[in-house]
Amino acid sequence: MYRERDLSYDFLGIHLDSPFILSAAPPTDELDMAMDGLAAGWAGVILKTTSVEANAVGLKYPMMSSFGTAGHKLWGLGNIDLISQYHIDEVCQRVKVLKQAFPSKMIAASIMGSQKEDWQALVSQLKKAGVDLIECSFSCPQGSMGEAPGRMLAQSVEATEKVARWVKEAAETTPVLIKITPQVTDIVEVARALKRAGVDGVTASNSVPALMGVDIETFEPRPSVFGDGAYSGMTGMAIKPLTLRTIAEIARTVDITISGNGGAYSWGDAVEFMAVGASNVQFCTLPMHAGFMTIRDLRSGLADYLDRKGFSSPLDIVGKALCHIKGQEELPAPRTRSSIDPDRCIGCGSCYRACRDGGHRAIEWNAVDRKPRVDEEKCPGCAQCMQVCPVNAIRMKQELGTDTHYFEFKGAR
Ligand SMILES: Cc1cc2nc3c(=O)[nH]c(=O)nc-3n(C[C@H](O)[C@H](O)[C@H](O)COP(=O)(O)O)c2cc1C
Repeated sequence: MYRERDLSYDFLGIHLDSPFILSAAPPTDELDMAMDGLAAGWAGVILKTTSVEANAVGLKYPMMSSFGTAGHKLWGLGNIDLISQYHIDEVCQRVKVLKQAFPSKMIAASIMGSQKEDWQALVSQLKKAGVDLIECSFSCPQGSMGEAPGRMLAQSVEATEKVARWVKEAAETTPVLIKITPQVTDIVEVARALKRAGVDGVTASNSVPALMGVDIETFEPRPSVFGDGAYSGMTGMAIKPLTLRTIAEIARTVDITISGNGGAYSWGDAVEFMAVGASNVQFCTLPMHAGFMTIRDLRSGLADYLDRKGFSSPLDIVGKALCHIKGQEELPAPRTRSSIDPDRCIGCGSCYRACRDGGHRAIEWNAVDRKPRVDEEKCPGCAQCMQVCPVNAIRMKQELGTDTHYFEFKGAR
């Protein structure tokens, strides 16, 4: 059943009617598409990244590829796309049209430059057009120009701080988000640099540089452009755990607003992003896969969740999980054992094989009745068996003093 309730709150002084934003990508690269997305119910759009004329955009096709399984063909989506081919003047015109048509939605734009003058000129044009927020791509997987040529800007802490200062200086009171990459040695250093630069927040994060695959007959990389290929930016479900870690690590150490992005595919994913510190969540692969109307599921699912948890606003979720994220050495050491539910077990033997060849040889197998049995003396409770069980018949029983805690498999979508 579809659920509605008030999901609105303020983000950097901007009214959002829900935490769900369309990120800078193909779904926001055409005016009519951005309009359709907003009309469907998304809380805001970040128009696809634009730059100054000098930065030519030489697109190559095909630009998309993916990897996955038959059941989840699009587990990871790869692209060798670049920024928008639309000029800043056109983007500014669209900002005005969108703002007029959807005055209560967040209309944002994304920019990328090389010289100080480029960045600041792009900012002042967008400001004049009345943009609500400016996002800066410091993380195009195909590399940047200017301060960190050949690398992503956000891979240099010094360049990140310097350019972020330029942008914020020109933006003045207009909120600025810097979109970073998770592919750095220390994400905290990057976030600290942004805090020093005085920007309003960080978008964590962009697509992840990847090689999507190689055809083992022809040795052509994927996607193949007449036999050759380039590294892709990978997006979608496959990168969600990287994004969660990136958001959490920033939120635990730096006092800066975070817009979560990278791998969210459901309202539950968005709640996870927010629970580790994001104040809203951007989506790209989900609408590219299943269309703009996915916003209905996101809104309805979140409404139901907030009611169930007794939360008054999406903001109540932000950071809720952080107190539970600790160093491995700080975790308690309960006595843990695997526990197999015989009624659920289908006798496939997956847990037995995984434990025999990759665990602790603690599961015995009766080939006649095809039932696994846990040897409690040998089982240290590593939980590998739980990961391979196809029907979630295994849970971990943890005992600490007189307390018993069950850890169940929650990974299935
Ligand atoms: C084809 C394609 C083009 C993209 N172009 C841009 C872009 O111009 N600027 C930008 O900041 N991010 C761009 N992105 C990245 C998305 O905005 C987003 O950060 C990324 O897809 C991760 O989110 P997701 O897992 O929800 O898709 C692009 C993504 C895709 C798939």
